[in-house]
Amino acid sequence: MAKMRTQIGILGAGPAGLMLAHLLHWQGIESVVLERQSREYVETRVRAGVLEQGTVEMLCESGVGERLKREGLQHQGIELRFDGRGHRIDFQNLVGKSITVYAQQEVLKDLIAARLRCSAPIFFEAEALRLEDIETQPRISYRHDGVTHELACDFVAGCDGFHGISRTAVATDQIRIHERHYPFAWLGILARVAPASHELIYTYSERGFSLLSMRSPEISRLYLQCAPDEDMNLWPDERIWEELRTRMATRDGFVLQEGPILQKAITPMRSLVAEPMQFGKLFLLGDAAHIVPPTGAKGMNLAIADVRVLARGLVEFYKERKRESLQEYTQRCLRRIWKAQRFSWWMTSMLHRFPQEDSFLHNIHHAELDYVTSSRAASTTLAENYVGLPFDTPGLF
Ligand code: FAD
Ligand code: PHB
Repeated sequence: MAKMRTQIGILGAGPAGLMLAHLLHWQGIESVVLERQSREYVETRVRAGVLEQGTVEMLCESGVGERLKREGLQHQGIELRFDGRGHRIDFQNLVGKSITVYAQQEVLKDLIAARLRCSAPIFFEAEALRLEDIETQPRISYRHDGVTHELACDFVAGCDGFHGISRTAVATDQIRIHERHYPFAWLGILARVAPASHELIYTYSERGFSLLSMRSPEISRLYLQCAPDEDMNLWPDERIWEELRTRMATRDGFVLQEGPILQKAITPMRSLVAEPMQFGKLFLLGDAAHIVPPTGAKGMNLAIADVRVLARGLVEFYKERKRESLQEYTQRCLRRIWKAQRFSWWMTSMLHRFPQEDSFLHNIHHAELDYVTSSRAASTTLAENYVGLPFDTPGLF
């Protein structure tokens, strides 16, 4: 068995793993990134698209924001649509901030390029199999090129997403899972057609939720609420466009442009928080520790916010031999995570049609949409959460 040693062993090359590796390298701390998939897979997997202002600032401040600044689409608001009418939530006017539409895989390409430029270790097609001795001297066994290797490290960062091994490596009596399932899912498409609106449109309709988003001036990203066990074969392209048109229709004749569908997928909806997020020398970050339903566009942003807390803790540990920030990791992360969970749960509840929605709930639902779009206080609450709540420390380090 081949053996290696590093300061931080990082499982997963998603936003959490790559951003952590990047910040640590910048601060002179060594790490090794292990990723189960190929580089090509990671760089083309279609996931998130909305970056909070604070996420954009972190990427720029740490030197990986050049292409993002050039190609990212800065948005000053979103539209909420119901009863055939659109209502703009003006972020700039309400909270003086914006969001940026820049695909997750583009962030990953920028971070991978930065890692390779400085020849720092990253292994693709390297699947972590087991974690050992996480309380004292952690070791990661992984398989790469048909050979089993062992990586010994001071700390392990479990950034291996919802289906990774790090959360499940913890004994069940040491971890508490807080969870909600929703009685619906999203059918998402990527289409080669100019977005029908300059800003994102979240629609509540009698037939269910829909969302218009984009990736570039030529590529649209659209979603439809569907059943959790929806059969994709029942959704030929024409039916998808027809359903999107019906749900997004406005009284003044909104026109949804159609184009070739490049990709279709169903995303389940779930809220989950694991507590604590630290077990001896193992830290959980991003989707390995928490999942939000995508309606608030918070998943990738939360992963990056965990990185901010852990990177600061590790820098204090290595440079000043201080342990306080590392010991407070769970508590510091959870303050933000629960607020993002609340917001994502609230947006999801407000914008989706529930199977058991009786006339009482239906009217409450309507009143909520009406209130949020007509009260400055309520719109400000939505805007403040959507663009991202402030971090509890001003600079990165
Ligand atoms: P991941 O991105 O899942 O990365 C984990 C990595 O670990 C993967 O590359 C995986 O291959 C690797 N891995 C797993 N197991 C192993 C192993 N054993 N060994 C080695 N490697 C392993 N978030 C937003 O902020 N805004 C949005 O607009 C948004 N929209 C979304 C839309 C959809 C349809 C979906 C599905 C998600 C969306 N999200 C959004 C959520 C966002 O994509 C995730 O929260 C984000 O990817 C989490 O990053 P992560 O690094 O924690 O995990
Ligand atoms: C996306 O563009 O993929 C996207 C945008 C907003 C969301 C979720 C997904 O809330």
